Amino acid sequence: MRLAGKSALITGAAQGIGAAIAKKFASEGAVVFICDLQAEEGEKSAAEIKASGGEAHFVTLNVADEVSWQAAYAEVVRVSGRLDILVNNAGINIREPIEEMRVESFDKMLSVNVKGPFIGIKHAIPLLRKSGGGCIINMSSICGLVGHKFTTEAYTITKGALTLMTKTVGVRYAKDNIRCNSIHPSTVYTPLVEQMFKDPEKKAQRFGEIPLGRLASADDVASAALYLASDEASFLNGVALPVDGGLTAY
Ligand SMILES: NC(=O)c1ccc[n+]([C@@H]2O[C@H](COP(=O)([O-])OP(=O)(O)OC[C@H]3O[C@@H](n4cnc5c(N)ncnc54)[C@H](O)[C@@H]3O)[C@@H](O)[C@H]2O)c1
Repeated sequence: MRLAGKSALITGAAQGIGAAIAKKFASEGAVVFICDLQAEEGEKSAAEIKASGGEAHFVTLNVADEVSWQAAYAEVVRVSGRLDILVNNAGINIREPIEEMRVESFDKMLSVNVKGPFIGIKHAIPLLRKSGGGCIINMSSICGLVGHKFTTEAYTITKGALTLMTKTVGVRYAKDNIRCNSIHPSTVYTPLVEQMFKDPEKKAQRFGEIPLGRLASADDVASAALYLASDEASFLNGVALPVDGGLTAY
């Protein structure tokens, strides 16, 4: 068990990549806190983990709201007494190019994708320090590393901010044995993507840009998160890890 005895809070874990991370962490012995706006889906994810012998708790969280974060951490401490791992995974994408995007939409993206992880890290630091150190993982994107012609400016701006938030936190809090790393997936195969691929041109574009010739799975991303959270990655700090089949390598 690579995460035995660890307590992990994962945002946006009701579905998709976050749910895959929660499942993987629990299967490696972590107590996982599935934090999300969606209670029904979140409870379902937690129930699936419990049914296969893991320990999972659903906690309602709006990452854009500081009071909501404080309540979530209070619940983590009440239930498990400690925090070892924070995964800032929740994120949104309002797909409008810069010349069409309303400023309100841009503000919303900043609130969830940037302010959310900022507040989460702010309140995680004292708890991680109390645990003798720990690990923060931020879910960025290939769009946090390079400009991507199929993605809008707003998304790229928020994911780029997360890339450097990761590095600066990693540098400042290394003295407390707190590591902070980011993950940068290319397109992950989800129901939403399946819908988009009904357009054969879009499908060809997305497959064509990846040297390994396939899309990432949620499990590919969860495996990278598990590695970063485990002791095997104890000397990895401030790293921006692409999970992209080589897309950003050229
Ligand atoms: N899917 C991809 O192709 C892809 C690629 C690169 C990066 N990412 C990033 O990975 C992360 C997860 O992506 P996904 O595809 O699993 O997304 P998803 O939309 O399937 O799931 C996101 C989850 O976040 C939750 N959420 C949204 N706003 C929230 C808020 N304010 N507070 C709490 N929870 C909130 C949603 O309820 C949902 O359960 C995101 O940060 C996304 O930007 C995704």
